[in-house]
Amino acid sequence: MTDPRTPEAGARPAAVLKGLGTYLPPRAVSNEELSQRLDTSDEWIRTRTGIRQRYWVEPGTATGDLAVEAGARALKSAGVDGVDAVVLATTTPDHPCPATAPWVAARLGLGHVPAYDVAAVCAGFVYALANAAGLILTGVARRVLVIGAETYSGILDPTDRNTAVIFGDGAGAVVLEAGRADEPGALLGFDLGSDGEQHDLITIPGGGSRQRAGGNPFDSEDCYFTMQGKRVFAQAVTRMGDSSGALLERLGWPSATVDRLVGHQANVRILHAVADHLEIARERAVVNLDRVGNTSAASIPLALADAAAAGDLNPGERVLLTAFGGGLAWGSTALVWPDIAPN
Ligand code: UT7
Repeated sequence: MTDPRTPEAGARPAAVLKGLGTYLPPRAVSNEELSQRLDTSDEWIRTRTGIRQRYWVEPGTATGDLAVEAGARALKSAGVDGVDAVVLATTTPDHPCPATAPWVAARLGLGHVPAYDVAAVCAGFVYALANAAGLILTGVARRVLVIGAETYSGILDPTDRNTAVIFGDGAGAVVLEAGRADEPGALLGFDLGSDGEQHDLITIPGGGSRQRAGGNPFDSEDCYFTMQGKRVFAQAVTRMGDSSGALLERLGWPSATVDRLVGHQANVRILHAVADHLEIARERAVVNLDRVGNTSAASIPLALADAAAAGDLNPGERVLLTAFGGGLAWGSTALVWPDIAPN
C-alpha cells in the first residue's frame, strides 16, 4: 500500500502555496548604530551571527500593522481578495488578549472568517502552516492566509547585548489553497516537535499567569525577552537537523536532491551547521539574515521572498523549510517551488 504521507500518494488532497507577500518597516538599524550605545561592534555581530542590519518599527507601529501589509501583499500575489481563515504566528501580539489575527482579518476586509494566533516563537510560521494545512485537509477552509509577523524591537532589553543585536521586525505571509499533492506548491508533509523541559532557554519571564501565581510584584523589566544563546545554538542545530532529516526520509527525498534549504534565520553559523548535518551543500542554504536579522515567526517567508527575488528559488526546485525556537519548539515542511509572483 502507498504510504499516504509520501508524494507517491499522487493525487491525494494537499494544501498548496499560491501567493507570498512580505513587509519590512522602513527604518534599517545598522550594527554601527547599535555599537554606539552597546558594548558591541559591527565585527563581533557580523562574524558571530552574520547579521549586518535589521529593521525596527518606529513608535506607533505594532505587529498587527506589519501583518496587514504582508497579508495584503500575499493576497495580491495569489490574485485573490478573500480567504476562509487567517492563522497568524507571532511572539509579539498586539495585546495579550485578544488574538491579533481577528483585527488583521478585519483590516484586510476578509469578513467574519475564523482568525486566530499561533504561539510557537521562532518555529511559529511552520506551526501555522501545519495548522492551516489541517484546516484545508479537514474541509474547514478551502483557502487560508498564513502570516508570520513580529515587532521584537518592543520586547528587547536595550541594555542586553546578547539579544538586542540579533532580532529584527517584519512580516511575511502566504496563501494556501486546497489542491493536490502532485501540484507544485503542495506542502508534502510536516515534522513538528517540542521540549518543554527546556522552556527557560528562551523566555519572557514576566507578564503571564506564572508570575501572578507566584505572587511576585509586576516589574516591567520582567517583560523583556531573554535567551541563553550558547545552549540555544546547540539545540537549534540538533533539532532543525534531526527534524529535517526525519521529514526527508519520510518523503523519500535524498538530501542531495534538496535544491534550497530555507532554515530559520537566527545565525549563519547555525544554518551552515544544519546544512552540514544534512549533507546539503552550504551554498544551497538560503541566507537573508544579513539584511533582516532574526525576525522569529516572520523569518521563513522573508527568506523565501528574498531568495525568489534574487533568482535563488525557481519553479520546480525542491525546497526544505525548517525552524526552531522557544518552547522549545521546532518543525519542518517541504514543497516543490511553484510558479508564483512574490510581492
Ligand atoms: O531564534 C530562536 C533561536 N535563536 C538562536 O538560534 C540563537 C542561537 N544562539 C546564537 O546565535 C549565539 O549563541 C549568539 C549569537 C546569541 C551568541 O554567540 P556565541 O558565539 O554563542 O557567543 P557567547 O554567548 O558564547 O559569547 C561569547 C563572548 C562572551 O564574552 P566572554 O564571556 O567570552 O568574555 C559574550 O559576553 O561574546 C560576548 N558577547 C558579545 N560581545 C560583543 C555576547 N554578545 C556580544 C555582543 N557583542 N553583542
